[in-house]
Amino acid sequence: MSSEIPIITLDGPSGVGKGTICLRVARATGFHILDSGSLYRLVGLLAGRRKLTLEAPIAPEVLAQLSEITKNIDVSYVEANGQLSIQLAGEEVGELIRDEAVAALASKVAAIPEVRSALLARQRAFAEAPGLVADGRDMGTAIFPKAGVKIFLTASAEERAKRRYKQLIEKGTDANLAALVADLKERDERDMKRSASPLMAADDARIIDTSEMSIDAVAREVMELVAERYDI
Ligand code: C5P
Repeated sequence: MSSEIPIITLDGPSGVGKGTICLRVARATGFHILDSGSLYRLVGLLAGRRKLTLEAPIAPEVLAQLSEITKNIDVSYVEANGQLSIQLAGEEVGELIRDEAVAALASKVAAIPEVRSALLARQRAFAEAPGLVADGRDMGTAIFPKAGVKIFLTASAEERAKRRYKQLIEKGTDANLAALVADLKERDERDMKRSASPLMAADDARIIDTSEMSIDAVAREVMELVAERYDI
């Protein structure tokens, strides 16, 4: 990682709006994007396809397979018509990896230290001129501890579930609010309690509680912090 490259980290729990804010900041700054969750989702997807058992204690042969999968993920991110397409060995998986089942697998593989360390260098390599907006759980703590702007977004699980519910209904997908709340709480718990890079705000991160804020208001506050630090 080069310390001269401007880096903005956006961490926080699932469904807090990091992805949307990340896109807005990237558009406003012209910076690259690292959607680190997509890497864990891809590992989760591949682990699911191989039907690997991810409950602890993880068997050594499963760990070996996970390390191999993680090191060899053949992914490319292609931006077309304002949409980010994610291609896994040529297969479009952008939509597929947003699935709740893949999210659950992602949060399981993300708790495995071997998977996290295998993704470290790959994530840091995203830091290229003119700058990077990195979205995840440990961007400001473990991956880019020297980032110039660190933001931690938070909102209650109920509020995040309501937002997700609305998105799903708008897409015409069946959804159950109570199940979404339970699912988010389960993922929060796994993300916060794991020993390898748990979800937490860096000491020098600005914490923004978005529960009562519109996405525009959050984007404005984030852009103010970015403009205070970087000349853009
Ligand atoms: O952000 P997203 O919901 O796509 O992430 C999917 C899962 O990947 C999360 O539930 C979390 O367990 C894991 N993750 C992580 N560290 C990151 C990004 C995501 O552990 N930096």
